[in-house]
Amino acid sequence: MLKTRKLGNQGLEVSELGLGCMGMSYAYGTPDDAESIATIHRALDLGMNFFDTAEMYGPYTNEELLGRAFKNKRNEAIIATKFGFSFHNGQVTGLNSHPDNIKKFVEDSLKRLQTTHIDLLFQHRVDPNIPIEDVVGTMSDLVKEGKVRFLGLSEASASNIRRAHKTHPISALQSEYSLWERNLEPEILPLIRELNIGLVAYSPLGRGFLTGTAKRAEEYPESDYRRKDPRMQGENYTRNMKAAEAVQNLAKEKNVSPSQIAIAWTLLKGNDIVPIPGTKRRVYLDENIAAASLSLSNDEIHVLEKALAPEVVSGPRYIPEIFKFIDR
Ligand SMILES: NC(=O)c1ccc[n+]([C@@H]2O[C@H](COP(=O)([O-])OP(=O)(O)OC[C@H]3O[C@@H](n4cnc5c(N)ncnc54)[C@H](OP(=O)(O)O)[C@@H]3O)[C@@H](O)[C@H]2O)c1
Repeated sequence: MLKTRKLGNQGLEVSELGLGCMGMSYAYGTPDDAESIATIHRALDLGMNFFDTAEMYGPYTNEELLGRAFKNKRNEAIIATKFGFSFHNGQVTGLNSHPDNIKKFVEDSLKRLQTTHIDLLFQHRVDPNIPIEDVVGTMSDLVKEGKVRFLGLSEASASNIRRAHKTHPISALQSEYSLWERNLEPEILPLIRELNIGLVAYSPLGRGFLTGTAKRAEEYPESDYRRKDPRMQGENYTRNMKAAEAVQNLAKEKNVSPSQIAIAWTLLKGNDIVPIPGTKRRVYLDENIAAASLSLSNDEIHVLEKALAPEVVSGPRYIPEIFKFIDR
């Protein structure tokens, strides 16, 4: 059974592992709603109560899926969702954290999720055109109205995290963190620890790469995000697979799966970190949840970190069109 972890010190407590629901509707392969809903229900049965979605996933269809999945189970789940992009004909056109857009998003999201409140509301990406105080001020009004319980930011810079936290306590930062993506360690992790903000670690499996099942970018269908992933292309793929052998080797040694090693590593980096591995299948979910009881020795951690050190991993984590939305 999963234990719980606190995110921030405003009272938000979630299962130590959450379920990333993005891939159920977006970015990774063909959706299978029936298996996705069965996966969500199984997560609840196994003591996982934290579910991550966003307006962008679909867009809209992932929130709608969660709405259906939690129809008679809403009080068993802690739902995180995110706003902050603008869309035209289902395509992202840019960022939009204008206060009117945030309020409209929340009204629409509550309908899609078939609920009266969002447990954790994230700004998905910092909007350089709207001061963070105005964004968080609007989010704070939604807390006062009872439509939102706790606030978070995603991929925000240190200075925006500080400014936001002064406006209204931020409970969680959701940013990429895994064995092969450790950009948060020098500045952001120490800052959020100073401010008592929890970390929701996204893509803890390196978008599937660390599980050993990832294919070369060109082998994914057009609709799969990983077709463009720089780390899965050409020479980068070859070098990164070589580096990720350390995960597979340790998994073999310990008679567990590579995904369990990657998740255990993230969990062991601090009690204030809640990884949200994504899957749309019960079989992977079971495996991933079992990782919570896996321990790694300091020597094992050292071997993994050396093999996948930032200077070893080849290629940026995003293409430039997506990187431009990251606030640093
Ligand atoms: N805030 C942000 O900007 C942001 C960005 C990206 C993601 N996220 C959130 O973080 C969540 C997790 O990140 P992610 O989905 O990008 O990447 P991830 O969790 O690192 O990896 C997901 C991929 O790994 C595969 N997988 C999962 N468990 C596995 C297992 N035991 N064995 C083999 N393969 C396995 C999944 O396969 P299947 O799909 O086939 O199950 C999927 O392709 C997302 O769902 C989303 O909620 C947030």
